[in-house]
Amino acid sequence: MPHLTFEQIKGKFDDYVIGNYARNQVAFVHGEGSHIWDSAGNRYIDLMPGWGTTTIGHCHPHVVSAIQRQAGFLIHIDNSFYNIPQGVLAEHLSTRSFGGKCFFCNSGAEAIEASLKLARLWGRRQGRSEIVTMGGSFHGRTFGAISATGQEKYHRGYLPLLPGISHVPFNDPGALEDAVGPKTCAVLMEVIQGEGGINIAEPAYLKAVRELCDERGALLILDEVQTGMGRTGRWFGYQHYGVEPDIMALAKALGGGVPIGAITARPEVAEFLAPGTHAATFGGNPLACSAAIAVFEVIEREGLIEAGLALSKTIFERLEAMAGEYDVIRQIRGRGLMIGIELERNGQEVFEHCLRNRLRVNCTQERVVRMLPAMNTPPELVKDGLDVLEDAIEKAQRGVF
Ligand SMILES: Cc1ncc(COP(=O)(O)O)c(C=O)c1O
Repeated sequence: MPHLTFEQIKGKFDDYVIGNYARNQVAFVHGEGSHIWDSAGNRYIDLMPGWGTTTIGHCHPHVVSAIQRQAGFLIHIDNSFYNIPQGVLAEHLSTRSFGGKCFFCNSGAEAIEASLKLARLWGRRQGRSEIVTMGGSFHGRTFGAISATGQEKYHRGYLPLLPGISHVPFNDPGALEDAVGPKTCAVLMEVIQGEGGINIAEPAYLKAVRELCDERGALLILDEVQTGMGRTGRWFGYQHYGVEPDIMALAKALGGGVPIGAITARPEVAEFLAPGTHAATFGGNPLACSAAIAVFEVIEREGLIEAGLALSKTIFERLEAMAGEYDVIRQIRGRGLMIGIELERNGQEVFEHCLRNRLRVNCTQERVVRMLPAMNTPPELVKDGLDVLEDAIEKAQRGVF
């Protein structure tokens, strides 16, 4: 790739790329671990790598060499045939979760689409087609996924949405009880709402959801697109709760930065996705699956789930200390390395101050500063990053912005 200045890069975007993203005035050209470099050569600490697409840092050497090796062997073969990486990856996923069978696609939204379609195929015999999801949820941007997303701002301009989907308040068992009926084929939810502001499902709630689904004959679909792959301190977020889903959707960190999505479903449910019912040209592509296999290997060989838990403890201790000092912090929330700092005011300036000072975090729901750091981020780097964040919060407290 030729070297271009920021102005040259931006010029191409201005001329040729649709402006559907509010982009910051920085172009990144290189990443390594929890560092990223911009086009002027400035180095940043990245505590929000690719909206949570890697739990193992940028360009992990094992993932890079797995991609290189597979690229020289077989980049793509379609699903009219078998291929090695897809089967191996499915085994990794199934044996670390609840023994389900997998379908592969390319993104989180596609994994949600596949989950919704499978739930309707499964429910058809009993005339069940309705799906209940949670207020404040986020499931992606395709029509099915925005219909499932319980936030009106994502629906605006796109009505009418997919029919048969209703939303209930999160963590409210009574509301769910009223909503799940004989026509319900599935309840869909995140175990921690990510984009929604790091809202954790209460243990008693998730248990009640599972029991209600069993009692009323509906499936439980968990969207683990953001919580999966060790992010919360277990392979998958549901493993903290002592309940299992019938279908789980994954993407983001699964491919270590390479686009891949997946669902895994209990075998008795999975069989409804029979030949001809659903497909994706690139789904289970050997290149993407090789990257995802390497991600599983890295997490296990390097003990990253344990490392992530230790890092999480350090981060939460520091943030709690900050919360004690700065009233502008309303609440610290999260689990593992899925972390939200809810402020009393808009967090955009905090985000911008951090970026100017070479720290990348994120701001969601206007007031929640979000971090999804990689599990192998060195503690000294996290400390440097949190120093920058504390400086921003101190300024927010004083109203300097
Ligand atoms: C919980 C959850 N589900 C689904 C999605 C959609 O994933 P994608 O952007 O890969 O389609 C996201 C993306 O942020 C997400 O956080």
